[in-house]
Amino acid sequence: MDLFTGRNEMKGVILHGGSGTRLRPLTYTDVKQLLPLAGKPVSEYALLNLIEIGIREINIIVGEIGKKEVQDYYGDGEKWGVNISYTHQEAPLGIAHAISLVEDFVDDENFVVLLGDNYFQNGISSMNRSFAELGTDAYVALTKVANPSRFGIAEVSNGKIIKIEEKPRNPRSDLAITGAYFLRKSIFDVIKELKPSWRGELEITEAFQIMLDRGMKIGYSVIEGWWKDTGTVDEFLDCNRMVLDTLKREVSGNFADSSVSGRVKIESGVKIMGKTKVLGPCYIGKNTILQDTYVGPYSSIGPNCKLKNVEIEDSVIMDGSSIELTGAERIRESLIGSNVIIKPNDFMGLGMRLIIGRDSRLEI
Ligand code: DAU
Repeated sequence: MDLFTGRNEMKGVILHGGSGTRLRPLTYTDVKQLLPLAGKPVSEYALLNLIEIGIREINIIVGEIGKKEVQDYYGDGEKWGVNISYTHQEAPLGIAHAISLVEDFVDDENFVVLLGDNYFQNGISSMNRSFAELGTDAYVALTKVANPSRFGIAEVSNGKIIKIEEKPRNPRSDLAITGAYFLRKSIFDVIKELKPSWRGELEITEAFQIMLDRGMKIGYSVIEGWWKDTGTVDEFLDCNRMVLDTLKREVSGNFADSSVSGRVKIESGVKIMGKTKVLGPCYIGKNTILQDTYVGPYSSIGPNCKLKNVEIEDSVIMDGSSIELTGAERIRESLIGSNVIIKPNDFMGLGMRLIIGRDSRLEI
C-alpha cells in the first residue's frame, strides 16, 4: 500500500482448498469455505476484507472438493468489481504449498493471503496499514486463544516475535497466528526449503520460523475484536452467533398471525404462515417458507427451505432443506446441510426411519 495515496497495488490470495475433515459429513460434498454465515459463504467475508483494503487482483486457490461450485459462485469477480482468477491445488499438501502455487500470480513485491475459513470481525485494514508502515519481511495478526495446541502459536518478547510453532504440545504462549498473512516475494524461496511436517503438510508457520532463524523480521499485532477459525462444527456455530449479533433488522412484508421480533434479516420471497414466531438475532434466506414454526435466536435458515411445526434455535440450516416435525422437540446447536429432508415417519408414530450417510451425527 502507498502510505501517501492509500492506493493498494498488492494482490490478494484466498485459500479455498484443504480437506475439511473436522466438518464431515458436510465436507464430503460441500467445500467448507462455502458454508453460509448469515446468507454469505465464509470465504466471501475474506473477499470483502481484501476489497475493503483496495485490492482488486485476487486469486482463489481451489482444491479437489467443490472447485466447480467455488468458481460458479465467484466467477471472474465482476459482481464484486474485482478480477478473480483461480489456481488448482491438486492435493491438500499444506498452506505453504498452496502459497507456492501463486508465485507467478504475484508479480508485485507484497501480497496478502487469507485463509478462506477464517472470519475477522474488524477486517484487515489496520494490519494492512501496519505492514506498510513497518516494512517487515512478513506480518501476522495474533489473538489469544483458550486451546493453543490447535493453532500456530507465536512467542513474543520485548515486542518481537521470537519463536513460531505449529500446534505445539507444550505451547510457549496462548497467542495464535490467525489466517491473514502479509508477505513479500521472499517467502517463495523460504517455502522451497520446507519439508513435510508430521501431518504431511508444508507449514507456513515453519517457513516463518526459518525466517526468524535467519534474522528476518515478522511484524505483528494482537487483533482487536473477535476472530474465528470456522473449521469445526462448534467453531462454525460460534461464528454464526457472532455474525448474527451484528445484523440489523431488515423485515418487510406482512406476516398476519405470525410474529417477527428483534434483529431479524428476512430476504425476499419469504413466506411466514400460521402461528410462526421468529425471534432474533436470526437470518431467513430467500423464498423460504415457515409454517407454525418457532425460529429462535442465533438461527440461520438458508434459501428455499420449508419448515413446518419445527422449533429451532442456535442452528444453521443450509439451502433447500425441508423439515417437518411434530413441534414437540426442539433442534438446537445443529448444522444441517443442503437439501436435507426430515419428516414424520409413515408408521403411525412407531419407530424411526433413518437414511444417513457416513460420519453423520445424531443426538436424539
Ligand atoms: O486458523 C488459523 C490456523 O490455520 C493457524 O493458526 C495455523 O497455524 C494454520 O496451520 C491453520 O491451521 P488449521 O489446522 O486450522 O488449517 P486447515 O487445514 O484448516 O487449513 C486452513 C485453510 O487453508 C482452510 O481454509 C483450508 C486451506 N488449505 C489448507 C491446506 C492444508 C488449503 O487451501 N490447502 C491446503 O493444502
